[in-house]
Parts: sequence; structure tokens; C-alpha cells
Amino acid sequence: MAKRRRPAAAAQGREGQMAVVRDDTPTIQWFPGHMKKAQRLVEENLKLVDVVIELLDARIPLSSANPMLAEMIKDKPRVVALNKADLADAAKTKAWVAYFAAQGVPAAAVDASQGKGLKKLVQLVTDLARPRTEKFVKAGGRPRSARCMILGIPNVGKSSLINRLAGAAIAKTADKPGVTRTKQWIKIGQGLDLLDTPGILWPKFEDKQVGLKLAFTGAVNDEIYDLEQVTILLLEILRRDYPERLAERFKLAAEELPETGAELLEAIGRKRGCLVRGGLVDYDKAMRIVMNEFRAGKLGKITLDAMPEQQGEA
Ligand code: G4P
Repeated sequence: MAKRRRPAAAAQGREGQMAVVRDDTPTIQWFPGHMKKAQRLVEENLKLVDVVIELLDARIPLSSANPMLAEMIKDKPRVVALNKADLADAAKTKAWVAYFAAQGVPAAAVDASQGKGLKKLVQLVTDLARPRTEKFVKAGGRPRSARCMILGIPNVGKSSLINRLAGAAIAKTADKPGVTRTKQWIKIGQGLDLLDTPGILWPKFEDKQVGLKLAFTGAVNDEIYDLEQVTILLLEILRRDYPERLAERFKLAAEELPETGAELLEAIGRKRGCLVRGGLVDYDKAMRIVMNEFRAGKLGKITLDAMPEQQGEA
């Protein structure tokens, strides 16, 4: 490969992606102390709800899950929302919904940015919550709305989903008596309230494949991974699973697509005119083009996680 121009800093990724939930939330890094704190906050809020909405990225339903969730929520009913379905392979999303359902976890595909799939999601949560509120009334309690909360790793779309659900809500409920003043509940369905603060889970860092997929989707800050390594690997996965999309997007000859990720990057850089003096490819520019266009869904709808039994191939 021709000599490349390295960026001044390894990362020119989006600032604060790691853990920004709201604009006023300070950026945090996932040191063990922060994980413990996040876990404690989640556990406190879990006590207040009947049902948990686990928000996953439809493009990486396994890689965007936190393995400790089951342990944290114990026997609390859970619904999976596969968000960013607008960016994922529709047939694969359908298969993932069936996969979760087969495990006894109701799931729905959603697009929080456009507000799609929310009716179905609210229905699933309501159905799952009903037995708990009914049991409460049978035990002599006053009829009350069911309560739920959203849990997910940074950047999976928690705030977007809350805002969408809140936007669709008829009214915001007042603070619940007996609950800390700062807890706000949003009425999102018939007899269903949503906690307006999501639970932030930390991503899985231990598995390299998972880490790279999180980087592909922008779920972790680019600073954590070497952008070149991430881009080349992404190109290799796309070359294997979606070669026609690569050829089409970057106007490469489908029958003679370069074999390796590095060669693909070079070819893409040339096609897009990312050249520096001497006709060399500006790899930084080419990498950024690939990552930005992939993240913006310009390569089409793509799912990167394979079903568990096919994991070895992923
Ligand atoms: P978080 O609270 O879980 O951290 O995630 P947040 O809602 O902030 O969403 C992270 C990014 O993902 C946002 O983009 C948001 O617009 C985008 N997003 C959320 N849901 C969907 C979805 O269903 N489909 C698509 N395509 N994107 C989604 P951003 O670039 O960080 O900000 P902006 O473009 O909204 O300004």
C-alpha cells in the first residue's frame, strides 16, 4: 500500500459518543467505577418499573447487548426493541424478532428517528405489564398504571425513543406520590407510563469482534479503536456479505472487486478522488468516507451480527 498520511490524532470521531444521553449529561468513560455507578442507578430505577425495554441496535442485536442485563433485571419482564431498523437488513431484522420471541422475549423492530414501530412496541409492553398490575389490584392495591423504563448502551437511541414516545403522549403525568420528585413519568399508552430517564448500560469491550462491530455502528467512540483497522475489517465483512452494495456505492467493477480490505480502501480512495501530492491516496479521507457513508446507511440496509448458531462465521 502506498504511504499513508496518518491523522494528527487517531480519532476524529464524534465527540462524546461514549455516553451522552442528553445534551447536559457530561461525557463519561467506562472505567470500572463508572460501570458500577451505572449499574447502581439502573438497579435503583428497576425497582420502580414493571417491565424493561431493552434497546438494541438492529444491525448488531447481539453485539449491542450488555451481558449483565439478565443478571440485573432478574425475573423482571423484558421486551426487546430493535432500533435503527431503518439501517438494518429487513429480512434479518424479521429473523431476529423471531429469534427473541422463540426465547420468550417479545421483540419489535423500531425506528426511533422516524417514530416507526412504536405502536407495536407499546402494545407488547402493555401486554407484558398487565398481569403485574392486575396482580397488584387483586392483592388489594389501588389500580395504577404499569411502569416501564428503557435500557441500552450509549448511542443506541434511548433519548430518541423517549422523545418520540413523549411526543406521541397525550399528557405527561405528574410525579408519582412516594417516588423521588425528580422521577418523571411519561404516559405512553393506555395505563402505561415510561420513566423519562433511560438506564445507561456499558458496551461489551472484551470480545474484539464485538468491539469492532460497535465501532462500525458508531456505538463506541472512534478513539477507542484504530480507525484504519475498523474500516479495513468493515470492508472485508462487506466484501464477503454484501459485495454488490460495495460495487454499486463506490462504482467499482463487481466482477473484479479487490480482495482485501486494504485494496478496497485504496480503490475507493481513488474513485472518490482522495488523492494527495504524487497521486497517492489520502487514506484518512477514504476511511472517513467509508465509515460516514456506512453509518449514514448509504451502503444500504446492513446487519452485521449473525444468528448465534452461525456466530463462528461472523
Ligand atoms: P442514546 O440516548 O442511546 O445515547 O442515543 P440517541 O437517542 O442520542 O441517538 C444516537 C444517534 O442515533 C442519534 O444520531 C440519533 O438521531 C440516532 N438514532 C436514534 N434512533 C435512530 C433510528 O431508529 N434510526 C436512525 N437512523 N438513527 C437513529 P446523532 O447523529 O448522534 O444525532 P442527530 O443526527 O440526531 O443529531
